[in-house]
Amino acid sequence: MRSYSKLWSRHLPEGGWAAQSVLLTGASGGIGQALVDELAGAGARLLITGRRRPALEALAERHPDQVTVMAADLTRAEERQRLVERAREAGCTMLINAAGMNRVGLFEASSDAEIEALITLNLTSTLQLTRALLPQLLAAEHGWVVNLGSTFGTIGYPGQAGYCATKFALRGFTQALRRELADTRIHVLHVAPRATRTAMNVPEIEAMNQALGNAMDTPQRVARLVRRAIETGREETQLGGPERFFARLNAMLPSVVDRALRRQLPTIRRFIGKPRGEAP
Ligand SMILES: NC(=O)c1ccc[n+]([C@@H]2O[C@H](COP(=O)([O-])OP(=O)(O)OC[C@H]3O[C@@H](n4cnc5c(N)ncnc54)[C@H](OP(=O)(O)O)[C@@H]3O)[C@@H](O)[C@H]2O)c1
Repeated sequence: MRSYSKLWSRHLPEGGWAAQSVLLTGASGGIGQALVDELAGAGARLLITGRRRPALEALAERHPDQVTVMAADLTRAEERQRLVERAREAGCTMLINAAGMNRVGLFEASSDAEIEALITLNLTSTLQLTRALLPQLLAAEHGWVVNLGSTFGTIGYPGQAGYCATKFALRGFTQALRRELADTRIHVLHVAPRATRTAMNVPEIEAMNQALGNAMDTPQRVARLVRRAIETGREETQLGGPERFFARLNAMLPSVVDRALRRQLPTIRRFIGKPRGEAP
């Protein structure tokens, strides 16, 4: 067991997880909570954040010696700044950007506020937090930026246009930053979960995934694979065999995926919006 974990942990410096101090956003969410348990279980110290303090405090109670809480709204510059100062005090050398939101529905029915909220949290706040923390990561012996993307950061999907826009952009940001920091000791990783059973997927979306035969992961599985990606230094991780296949197919032959999704459209519309032409 010892040698197994040593083998996987070859990208972590001496001391392994016990030497890591992690700033985790989205910690009160489904995947975030599972990540707290996974990484604290591995020995890491974590500074966890989200807006819902009670959910964060419940996590800290489970891991009292390792987890520190700071509630913050990442879309507010002054709260982000306070978080960065706290991360500096805590000596964080790993940033895991897991905060995110989705809005599923027909794009034509999105409001200005919904589009703006998606871009502000999933993209602008994530980029700004990352930039604000970079000096500290650059000064560390080893630093990590781990961005939680999505299958919908590679495959444009009906009913998720705004979300796809943010997750495609996050993937591009991650790749560019990795290349920009290639001569430093910062590792920049992108992990793209497929559909996962969390509050992000309302019951209609779970039902839609079932009707379409789309597999859904548990947040615990996602957390294990995020840990594995960090330990092995894998820069790009797409979860799920079929999703990996379709991501590649979409890159090479997008018209084939266009046709496959065109066939799914009536089912998708049944769950996310009225068929075109139907009376309101
Ligand atoms: N679930 C999926 O099917 C799925 C699939 C692929 C990728 N992902 C990605 O995985 C990540 C985690 O998703 P999840 O399923 O765990 O979602 P979730 O359960 O809905 O959690 C979302 C997290 O984001 C935080 N958050 C939302 N608005 C915030 C704000 N203004 N300031 C600070 N934090 C904020 C929430 O905290 P508070 O509510 O406490 O603020 C919560 O911790 C996201 O980036 C998501 O896009 C999810």
